[in-house]
Amino acid sequence: MAKVFVFDHPLIQHKLTFIRDKNTGTKEFRELVDEVATLMMFEITRDLSLEEVEVETPVSTAKAKVIAGKKLGIVPILRAGIGMVDGALNLIPTAKVGHVGLYRDPETLQPVEYYVKLPSDVKEREFIVVDPMLATGGSAVAAIDSLKTRGAKNIKFMCLIAAPEGVEAVQKAHPDVDIYIAGLDEKLNEHGYIVPGLGDAGDRLFGTK
Ligand code: URA
Repeated sequence: MAKVFVFDHPLIQHKLTFIRDKNTGTKEFRELVDEVATLMMFEITRDLSLEEVEVETPVSTAKAKVIAGKKLGIVPILRAGIGMVDGALNLIPTAKVGHVGLYRDPETLQPVEYYVKLPSDVKEREFIVVDPMLATGGSAVAAIDSLKTRGAKNIKFMCLIAAPEGVEAVQKAHPDVDIYIAGLDEKLNEHGYIVPGLGDAGDRLFGTK
């Protein structure tokens, strides 16, 4: 079963509070999402493997460690996921960025893929799919399906806020995908919004409404 990590780091929790606040304007909201994405990446990359190298210091030779060449890919789910990309790249600037675009079919209410572009070496990369909100889980499950269909084998999912319903849906559909969350909320309301949540993440990031 996929593991679920809720980050209780004080800085993440502090910034998430201002992200939730309806009085936080677009500029500050975007900056805070960026900062929280960076802090979450710091925690998520804890398990990257290291290898030993030798380095000449001004004093002598040291045996030291560097990251063992793991290839990472960040995949935002369009459009709100874009708000977490730069924050993630702050820590892993060499990561490649793929994109998955989905819309909800008005009749079936199922997510439909309209755009997918991934790095060509998809089979060798470890991917982190990012979307600020894990609500019903429909988009997350479909985005992970898209990656797996194209050969991705190693996938994590990172979001700011999740509803229990979304966590359960991803765990059920993709038991191999660990989920990283800054805030695990109470429920979904009848409009599919996370309660208490933060409202519409895309609108708040991009100043639309
Ligand atoms: N998407 C959002 O942007 N907000 C929610 O609360 C749920 C889905």
